Amino acid sequence: MQVIVAKDYDELSRWAAEAVAAQILEKPDSVLGLATGGTPLGMYRELKRMHQEGKLDLARVKTFNLDEYIGLPADHPESYHHYMQENFFRHVNLPADQAHVPDGTAGDLAVECQRYEEMIQAAGSIDLQVLGIGANGHIGFNEPGTEFGAVTHVLSLDPRTVKANARFFGSEDQVPRQAISMGIKTIMKSRKIILLASGTDKAEAIMRTVTGPVTVDMPASILQLHPNVTLLVDKAAAAFLKLDGGQMSVNC
Ligand code: GLP
Repeated sequence: MQVIVAKDYDELSRWAAEAVAAQILEKPDSVLGLATGGTPLGMYRELKRMHQEGKLDLARVKTFNLDEYIGLPADHPESYHHYMQENFFRHVNLPADQAHVPDGTAGDLAVECQRYEEMIQAAGSIDLQVLGIGANGHIGFNEPGTEFGAVTHVLSLDPRTVKANARFFGSEDQVPRQAISMGIKTIMKSRKIILLASGTDKAEAIMRTVTGPVTVDMPASILQLHPNVTLLVDKAAAAFLKLDGGQMSVNC
């Protein structure tokens, strides 16, 4: 696991976008795993800029988002479908049928989970997975306690996540209580992973991800067992790490 500390959120966002762009340059038909939330917004802004400047071609890329709320239609302003359209998809040349987000309105959610997982595997698994992290250590919506062997599944949001995400919905009451998420096993099959974290709220989760025991109580700690993970964090999120010149390599 490698940890790289950016001086601030803008630098973090640029580095994240450069990592995605490098992946696409190296393999123009890459399969990307994408994240939502506040943290990757700067990365999407940078990717949009690169595309507008003619430096990024997504014509052959496929994308799979990590998660979606259950019960929110694609046009709901807080659905992850809508987030992806507004912040990324509509600004770049990614063909619509190559961009995938789980359907939280599917009549049979178990079938939808299986369909989504099979699509990822049929695409050859994810080449580069972008992750954020919850203050409670969740990745995707894999909350503390989720078994590491889970593939795409339906889950209940942790009360801490409902509280954290209320800022997007106006109030806690409006936040859906369930979601579909890629499982930890799905995420761990990715060939490369970058995890982005910004702000002091994430500092404890980052410390426990890097140095703590691997435990389902801190889902992101499983990343210690993945062979190719880079944590891109800003100084605030790295506050509890002992770093040497802004970089850290941890042999797990
Ligand atoms: C959300 C998403 C996660 C995201 C995390 C952190 O609930 N399901 O994929 O990484 O929580 O979000 P933020 O970046 O807004 O802090």
